[in-house]
Amino acid sequence: MDIGEFKLERYFARYEFKARYLLSSSDCEALTLQELLAMADPADLALWENLRLGYTESTGHPRLREKVSGLYRNVPPGLVLTVVPEEGILVCLQALLSRGDHAIVTWPAYQSLYAIPEALGCAVTKWPLTLLNGAWELDPDFLERNITGRTRLLILNFPHNPTGYLPPREAYYRIIETARDHGLFVLSDEMYRFLELAPSARLEPAADLYEKAISLGGLSKAFGLPGLRTGWLAARDLGLIARFSAWKDYTTICGAAPSEILAIMALEAKDRLLARSREIIARNLAAAEAFFLRHPGLFSWIPPQGGSTAFPGLHREISVEAFCRGAVEKKDVMILPGTVFDFEGNHFRVGLGRADLPEVLDVLEGYVKGL
Ligand SMILES: Cc1ncc(COP(=O)(O)O)c(C=O)c1O
Repeated sequence: MDIGEFKLERYFARYEFKARYLLSSSDCEALTLQELLAMADPADLALWENLRLGYTESTGHPRLREKVSGLYRNVPPGLVLTVVPEEGILVCLQALLSRGDHAIVTWPAYQSLYAIPEALGCAVTKWPLTLLNGAWELDPDFLERNITGRTRLLILNFPHNPTGYLPPREAYYRIIETARDHGLFVLSDEMYRFLELAPSARLEPAADLYEKAISLGGLSKAFGLPGLRTGWLAARDLGLIARFSAWKDYTTICGAAPSEILAIMALEAKDRLLARSREIIARNLAAAEAFFLRHPGLFSWIPPQGGSTAFPGLHREISVEAFCRGAVEKKDVMILPGTVFDFEGNHFRVGLGRADLPEVLDVLEGYVKGL
């Protein structure tokens, strides 16, 4: 299997630990170990203090699977497999797809969601988000029109990275029903779940709605704990979980022992962690909106509905790559151009989850004024 370079990851690798200001991170401000331990109850602290640094159970710590199961209505702990989030995508796609299959994926997309199916020899149809009256939209009829006899898998990502798009509930139900009518598997990347701007707009996990759906979740984004490298696949079919597990034996075998205990603590403290991330995003969103609306000749601001990112447009006199290169070279501000998503059009990603966003926008203001 041959696969191309992961453009977004390579772009981050170049700047993430070198540029002074990061404008495009998709994770929420990370907690310190001390902050997380300070939230833990005595039973979890005892797990932490007595932790043996041995191998762990390959499907995940039983208590962690139980806590994850609590996030779903219809997924018991036995149908949760803990994974590194990115690994979850790989093992799920490896297990579900074969050469010659067809997959449909919401577009633009986190690269592994389409590059792995392509590397496996599948045909991939991209279901594009388009701009309609200043908002991101998915053509609801596209899915039905593009399903063929070979279509095996639908890959969704709501809230969506990078646009922050979230479909209305009725549209989401219709998508799931279409998948059900055609017997498709659904891989639903829900890494940004819990970050809906209006909590009433939060969608039910796909695995709760549909027996052939697999929900991918994790602690990297909404929970502010990307360094734990902890996520999970939740499904309704034990046979599927067993197939994902079989692939995991060839990737990480099992989770990291310290991460598992810290992940249990994080899920116990879920409400506090999510409230913290949501507060940061709410404040940053106001600052970002004010900033981009101050420069209407240069930017088009497209408000997100969820997640921790937005994908504004840059007017075309300047290419987005040149704009981003100038920002990092002149002001040490790293901005992710939409071209790393292979997305046509002059868009760039703004990360709304980091505490220093207002300061980064002040620095960017100096750059923008000089353009
Ligand atoms: C949509 C989406 N899925 C999966 C991942 C992978 O998460 P992780 O980096 O924690 O493995 C990311 C990371 O940016 C993402 O944006």
